[in-house]
Amino acid sequence: MSELLSIEDLTVSFGTSAGRVKALNNVSLTLNEGEVLCIVGESGSGKSTLALTIMGLLPHNTEISDGRIMYRDIDLLRAGADTMRDLRGREISLVFQDAQSALNPIESIGPQLEEVILAHSNVSLRGANQMAQDMLFEMGMADPKRVMGQFPFALSGGMCQRVMMAMALVMRPKLLIADEPTSGLDVTLQAEILHRIRNLVKEQNASVLLITHDMGVVAAMANTVGVIYSGNVVESAEVVPLFRRPQHPYTWSLLQALPRIDDPGRRIEPLPGTPPDMIKLPAECPFLPRCFKAQSQCRTDPKPKLVEIEGMHFVACYNPVVPEEDD
Ligand SMILES: Nc1ncnc2c1ncn2[C@@H]1O[C@H](COP(=O)(O)OP(=O)(O)O)[C@@H](O)[C@H]1O
Ligand SMILES: [Mg+2]
Repeated sequence: MSELLSIEDLTVSFGTSAGRVKALNNVSLTLNEGEVLCIVGESGSGKSTLALTIMGLLPHNTEISDGRIMYRDIDLLRAGADTMRDLRGREISLVFQDAQSALNPIESIGPQLEEVILAHSNVSLRGANQMAQDMLFEMGMADPKRVMGQFPFALSGGMCQRVMMAMALVMRPKLLIADEPTSGLDVTLQAEILHRIRNLVKEQNASVLLITHDMGVVAAMANTVGVIYSGNVVESAEVVPLFRRPQHPYTWSLLQALPRIDDPGRRIEPLPGTPPDMIKLPAECPFLPRCFKAQSQCRTDPKPKLVEIEGMHFVACYNPVVPEEDD
C-alpha cells in the first residue's frame, strides 16, 4: 500500500488580538492510495485548519511553525505558489465545509465550473461548458443547463453542495479533501454524497481525506481514522481496530455516544465539559479535565505522545482504556 499523503509533526497557529490560537499541534497522519482517511473530532478541534493547510489556503494570520506535508514526492509546505495552483483543483481538490459561502456569490455557476476546467486543460470554452454540464448531471442535477445560469444564492444548500462536488471532481483528482461535506444536508442527500465519494475511490483509485464529527460516517466510509482533540491527534488506527478496541478515553466516549443496532434503547450520553481554550492550551494532556481515566501522571507530565500500541494503532494516553476481549 503506497502513501499518497503524509503529514508529519504539523504545527499551525493563528495570531489574534487575544493571543495565539494553537489550532494544530504536532499532527502526524498518513493517507494511502485508494483509501479513505477520516478525521473526526468536535467543533473547533482544528479539522478545517488541517484541510486548508494541505490546500495552501490559509489566511495571512497563520504561522506554520513546524512539520512537513508530503504529497507523493512534493513537499506542499515548501512548494511554490505556481505548483500549488497547478495541483489545486486538478490533483488535489477541496469540498469546503460551507458550500454556499465558498462559491463566488457574484458569478453564475457555469463560469465558476468552467474556470476550473480551463485552468487545468486545453479544452475550448465550448468543451469546458459541455464538461461542466456533464459533471453537474453526474452529480444528480436533472437540468444542468439551467443550474449553470443560476447564482449560488438562488440554489438550496443541497444544490450548492452538488455544485461544490462537481467543481471538486471535474478534473478527476487523485486526492479529495472533503470538509464535513454532508453536515446540514438531509439524510438522502447525505447518503448520495457519501456514495459518490465512495465511487471516486473505487473507480479512480482516488484517496479521500474525509472530515466529519459523525462516527456513523466514519464507520461507513473510513479505511483509517485520525481522532483529533484540541489540535492534537489523540488516536489513529485502521477503522476496525479503532471501533473494536478504542483506547483513548476521548475516542471511547465518542463511540459510546453512538446509537447501536444491538442496543437500540441505549441513551446517548453527551460528553460532559468543554474543550480547553486553544489560546491557553495546557502543557499536560488537553483532555484531562474531561477524562474518566485520569491519574496523577496525567496531571504532572507533559501531554502524552502518540505511541504505537499495536500494528498501525497509535494512542496518546498515559492510561488508555483496556480493550474488552473480542468475542
Ligand atoms: N483565521 C483564523 N484566525 C484565528 N483563529 C482561527 C482562524 N481559523 C480558525 N481559527 C480557530 O482555530 C481553531 C480550530 O478551528 P477549525 O480548524 O475551524 O476547527 P474545526 O474545523 O475542527 O471546527 C478554533 O479555535 C478556531 O476558532
Ligand atoms: Mg471545520
